[in-house]
Amino acid sequence: MSTYQEFIQQNEDCDGIRCSWNLWPSSRLEATRLVVPVSCLYTPLKERPDLPPVQYEPVLCSRANCKAVLNPLCQVDFRAKIWACNFCFQRNSFPPSYAGISEVNQPAELMPQFSTIEYIVQRGPPNPLIFLYVVDTCQEEEDLQALKESLQMSLSLLPPNALVGLITFGRMIQIHELSCEGMAKSFVFRGTKELMPKQIQEMLGLMKPATSGQQGKPLAPHDAAASCRFLQPVQAVDMNLTDLLGELQRDPWPVPQGKRPLRSTGIALSIAIGLLEGTFPNTGARVMLFTGGPPTQGPGMVVGDELKTPIRSWHDIQKDNAHHLKKATKYYEALANRAAVNGHSIDIYACALDQTGLLEMKCLSNLTGGHIVMGDSFNTSLFKQTFQRVFSKDYNGEFRMAFGGTLEVKTSRELKVSGAIGPCVSLNTKGPCVSDNEMGVGGTCQWKICSLTPATTLALYFEVVNQHNAPVPQGGRGAIQFVTQYQHSNTQRRIRVTTIARNWADAQSQIQHIESSFDQEASTVLMARLGVFKAESEEGPDVLRWLDRQLIRLCQKFGQFNKDDPNSFKLSESLSLYPQFMFHLRRSPFLQVFNNSPDESSYYRHHFVRQDLTQSLIMIQPILYSYSFYGPPEPVLLDSSSILPDRILLMDTFFQLVIYHGETIAQWRKSGYQEMAEYENFKQLLQAPLDDAQEILQTRFPMPRYIDTEYGGSQARFLLSKVNPSQTHNNLYAWGQESGAPILTDDVSLQVFMDHLKKLAVSSSA
Ligand SMILES: *[C@@H]1O[C@H](CO)[C@@H](O)[C@H](O)[C@H]1NC(C)=O
Ligand SMILES: *[C@@H]1O[C@H](CO)[C@@H](O)[C@H](O)[C@H]1NC(C)=O
Ligand SMILES: *[C@@H]1O[C@H](CO)[C@@H](O)[C@H](O)[C@H]1NC(C)=O
Ligand SMILES: [Zn+2]
Repeated sequence: MSTYQEFIQQNEDCDGIRCSWNLWPSSRLEATRLVVPVSCLYTPLKERPDLPPVQYEPVLCSRANCKAVLNPLCQVDFRAKIWACNFCFQRNSFPPSYAGISEVNQPAELMPQFSTIEYIVQRGPPNPLIFLYVVDTCQEEEDLQALKESLQMSLSLLPPNALVGLITFGRMIQIHELSCEGMAKSFVFRGTKELMPKQIQEMLGLMKPATSGQQGKPLAPHDAAASCRFLQPVQAVDMNLTDLLGELQRDPWPVPQGKRPLRSTGIALSIAIGLLEGTFPNTGARVMLFTGGPPTQGPGMVVGDELKTPIRSWHDIQKDNAHHLKKATKYYEALANRAAVNGHSIDIYACALDQTGLLEMKCLSNLTGGHIVMGDSFNTSLFKQTFQRVFSKDYNGEFRMAFGGTLEVKTSRELKVSGAIGPCVSLNTKGPCVSDNEMGVGGTCQWKICSLTPATTLALYFEVVNQHNAPVPQGGRGAIQFVTQYQHSNTQRRIRVTTIARNWADAQSQIQHIESSFDQEASTVLMARLGVFKAESEEGPDVLRWLDRQLIRLCQKFGQFNKDDPNSFKLSESLSLYPQFMFHLRRSPFLQVFNNSPDESSYYRHHFVRQDLTQSLIMIQPILYSYSFYGPPEPVLLDSSSILPDRILLMDTFFQLVIYHGETIAQWRKSGYQEMAEYENFKQLLQAPLDDAQEILQTRFPMPRYIDTEYGGSQARFLLSKVNPSQTHNNLYAWGQESGAPILTDDVSLQVFMDHLKKLAVSSSA
């Protein structure tokens, strides 16, 4: 039999699934005692070059409140042409087109290797994709110039039949008419007055004109779309749009000394959303906001225009001193929900040295599956390359973006779904699989995901509902089916179906089996997402206490120890890394906010709750590689003892790539040894981490910040803040030259943390 490691890897490759437990406790009571819930990370559109989609409709269970999709776990009677649903046990006849099936002639969806299968259910292009650019013109000349060039370049990356539109804003908002015969016309809106969706549609000519005594009515979306001159096929207008973008000027309104420019982001977005709502509801569309600063007037303003009033900090928020926070957040949430209802996705590209209001605006992207990219300037490769990567293509030459997704979860009877955490909104679908016990966004078995990429990963949490002492459920296996319907970037409608099953185990007699089925990496990410979800609404220290309590309980349950003897404490291999992950998670920017601005925290959390397992783990516990003359590059402990004078370190935190030159290396580099022929090997040593960094820089989305620093460099703090402070000023005496760099910190070290954990876990009074 294969090991759990192999089993886990195979399931991830095949189904895009990682479960916290790979044997499931057979009763509700035992499940709660395991501390980490039965849960999984699911990547619905995981790239599967080996999985050609089938060109027919899925076969559904005929029971009205089930409708599960036929899958390899169903019992089939080939002679009677009947299949039994493995979720509700309904017996179903096959449709007439399956008359020829037999043991040796099975449709793909019954074969074990198709536990994940994709159906193309509608071919041909019913609706083009839509890209609506919303561009802030209150920017420095350099930023605006660079942004204009990026936008012009992007036109060549769009699908030729995609529709594009352009809204620009500063103090006023302009929506540009794009008809092929000259594009001089634009409609101008004030940035201070809130507009109802109907007013926007009326002003844009998307309504039937009012006749005497009768109010204007909205045009049917089809007519409105046809008559809309604001969204045009890119192939028809790209020349003119390129010119138009080239001619964009900075906002002409003078900005007095001591003031911020007046920036009407709120109204600009409401016009964008109103336009799409009136013309292309339920169609794949991206609103792409490019902004260089915070909204400063009108609904959605985040800070006033007086420069002497700084934008809110965590301190202000804690003191309840952030005047615009609640109102702005509420405003953007309402916009986000309107966009989500119509399946429209909103990206935010925010480039500025100061904060831009991501904290207030993040829900626009969080609820609609949009991207958030944060940089210092639009004239950086971080922005330029990241933006290009939005339009990257897969092995088939198709865009890595999908639209208008819904994910439905079906469970066998012993399980119910408690909720999801990821870039989704609830569709409030009740049903027999929905648990009352909510975790994340719960109370539903369906979620909307307006936009997805192959990396988009949701966390799903389940409740075992089987009663204690009831026999292990019939069939011995629990099953979950994930049904994701979406619009492919080539505009086909597709359905991806993944069906998984795990054995039930009696947690009393088989606890060791359950323990060895524990996936500590997946569990770390699943618990971390719960923590980040809580952190959005609860006080930071409360979240940390909650995580600590869960960790202690898990160690009490699975640790081996003699009561009150911390030294005897041991964890088995399947749990051995888990406490260390939790240690790094506690120190991570997802839970510690005070070293970051509110915008930065929002940014980090936004990415954390959507990435796949590998990327999420890097975010929790950054990877550190060492380069030296003593051997090939190797991963080393994320610990201050790894910082040595004759080493170069490469640290990957997902958001940053840091190259750190140890003291001696830095001196050699300063003296220019790498230029001398006899020190060719030193030159190569310097180059090796650069090459490895380049590889990461070229593929990751968003592109990480690249930091090249050295011993004593001001940017070295990026490294020092991440490593375990095993050498602090408290034990400075204890070590000599060789043993690493001291770190001044009040953080406890992993050693102290572990000692404390062991003490609590073995305590008879705990
Ligand atoms: C962008 O930055 C580069 C390098 O720093 C500089 O050469 C270029 O002039 C800048 N672009 C603009 C439009 O200012
Ligand atoms: C748009 O393109 C048309 C035809 O190519 C041209 O006649 C017209 O002048 C262009 N308009 C603008 C504003 O560049
Ligand atoms: C995303 O939105 C949900 C509401 O649907 C909220 O509970 C969650 O905290 C948000 N997540 C982030 C990272 O902002
Ligand atoms: Zn069924």
